[in-house]
Amino acid sequence: MARKTGMRKGLTSYGDEGFALFLRKAFIKAMGYSDDALDRPVIGIADTFSGFNPCHRTAPDLVAAIKRGVAMAGGLAVEFPTVSLHESFAFPTSMLYRNLMAMDTEEMLGALPMDAAVMIGGCDKTVPAQLMAAASANIPSLIVVTGPMMTGDYHGERLGACTDCRRLWGLHRAGEIDADEIDAIGGRLMPTAGTCMVMGTASTMACMTEALGMMLPGGAAIPAVMADRLRHAEASGVRAVAMAKEGLTPDRIMTPQAFSNALRVLLAIGGSTNALIHITAVAGRLGIEVDLDSFDAMGRETPVLVDLKPSGTGYMEDLQKAGGLTPVLREIRDLLEADALTCTGRSLGDNIDAAPAGWAQDVVRPRTDPVYAEGGIAVLRGNLCPGSAIIKQSGASPELMKHSGRAVVFDSLDDMAERIDDPGLDVNADDVLVLRNAGPKGAPGMPESGYIPIPKKLAKKGVRDMVRISDARMSGTAFGAVVLHVCPEAAIGGPLALVRAGDRITLDVPARRLELEVSEEELAARRAEWSPPPAQAERGYKRLHLDHVTQADEGCDLDFLAQRPFTAKAPV
Ligand code: FES
Repeated sequence: MARKTGMRKGLTSYGDEGFALFLRKAFIKAMGYSDDALDRPVIGIADTFSGFNPCHRTAPDLVAAIKRGVAMAGGLAVEFPTVSLHESFAFPTSMLYRNLMAMDTEEMLGALPMDAAVMIGGCDKTVPAQLMAAASANIPSLIVVTGPMMTGDYHGERLGACTDCRRLWGLHRAGEIDADEIDAIGGRLMPTAGTCMVMGTASTMACMTEALGMMLPGGAAIPAVMADRLRHAEASGVRAVAMAKEGLTPDRIMTPQAFSNALRVLLAIGGSTNALIHITAVAGRLGIEVDLDSFDAMGRETPVLVDLKPSGTGYMEDLQKAGGLTPVLREIRDLLEADALTCTGRSLGDNIDAAPAGWAQDVVRPRTDPVYAEGGIAVLRGNLCPGSAIIKQSGASPELMKHSGRAVVFDSLDDMAERIDDPGLDVNADDVLVLRNAGPKGAPGMPESGYIPIPKKLAKKGVRDMVRISDARMSGTAFGAVVLHVCPEAAIGGPLALVRAGDRITLDVPARRLELEVSEEELAARRAEWSPPPAQAERGYKRLHLDHVTQADEGCDLDFLAQRPFTAKAPV
């Protein structure tokens, strides 16, 4: 039987297909379409505009450009809404709702009669959710991102969200910037539409999506307000029609080789730690396991090449002026799986060859002169993190990469908020700050609270970095000697739950170790006394999350959405 396409696809179940098609067409004619339009390939556009999502302010312009491209190629573009998430407008954390957005998007891709989809992502959780949805729905799909903001300035200093937000807030906490000035700075940090303009999670996911082959080449770094951004969206509309005709589905693009390329790029750009969780979840939708030890080994041979904050000095508009992601791909071409198929219908290697020649620039460094000699992210093992933990070593103080100190323990986010600035807190600069019950189940939703603030009394003495350990995440725009994603998390009885104030903890990043210097007997005794914290959700989606969310090393997906057992591994 011929595959049903366009408006004939997925007819509503009335038990009478002819009637269902008649009724669908009758209804959609109320939108003003002709029969000619309704007979064309239908390209769905996931429109994530939301008044609560400033990172997606330009989504209406992108919808118009994608529609123009679809029409130019002879298709019919139909936009539809999905959940839209912004980092600062989702309580308690946007991560709690990433899987909800993925479910919503996946179900709409399957339920609505479209032959291909173009999804407008941008802010941190949106692109991961859309890739997860594309992987599971498996209809031809492309990602278009809103693109990064331009930089702002304050009294002559160039500023960008949100690395500078955190740095300047730290100075405010230390008493070096007063309340009026920090307010004024707050008005200068986000000067245009778009996503955070450092190499935070949004920029990282955009670069990885291009490397993965799910975005047309050249799309990762174009600032949101530039005309090229619209031309890229238009080209994506054109290409989506061709992909619909070719039947180029995500499972043919998102292979273990493609995930290897995305992971390699994550390391080379000094990308966000969050992206590791997200790409693990996307791969998990296709039965592909991200092997953290192989990823760590990959990191030892992949230097950080992109000189952008928080690992370096520049901003995304600088990367775009340097040629976008292409010069990065060129520089590590021999380390990539160049034969991996991409959404262009050609391989990643072919795309690199087809890109315009490079030019002299100093944002993407040669491998002989990297920003950081190893990959940005290291994977840790040890008795405190039997499942794994990670650290963004490229954004940490080098002198803290081998450190042993006394634990100062916070039992929860509330506990931390209550005591961190208490002048009576027993804490020194050499101590190790520990935050627990902030993981996928514990908080719940694994908020970006791993960037534990330096206690005010130490900040005022000039302390700018300390070893910090948690089962939480950290914003991709943050920096410091911050150990994250400790697995298993404390709320399910991971060893982090057993740490007591004054215990000695040793971090050795070169050796990839994280150890709690307490005997096995003592830990067993503490475990016998431990009881889990009370569950924090009684109903609705939060209940579903608590009952089914997996740990960080499995991508924090809901267990029934991931494809198991694994059938392949990445990196290859
Ligand atoms: Fe949207 Fe940073 S808050 S990308």
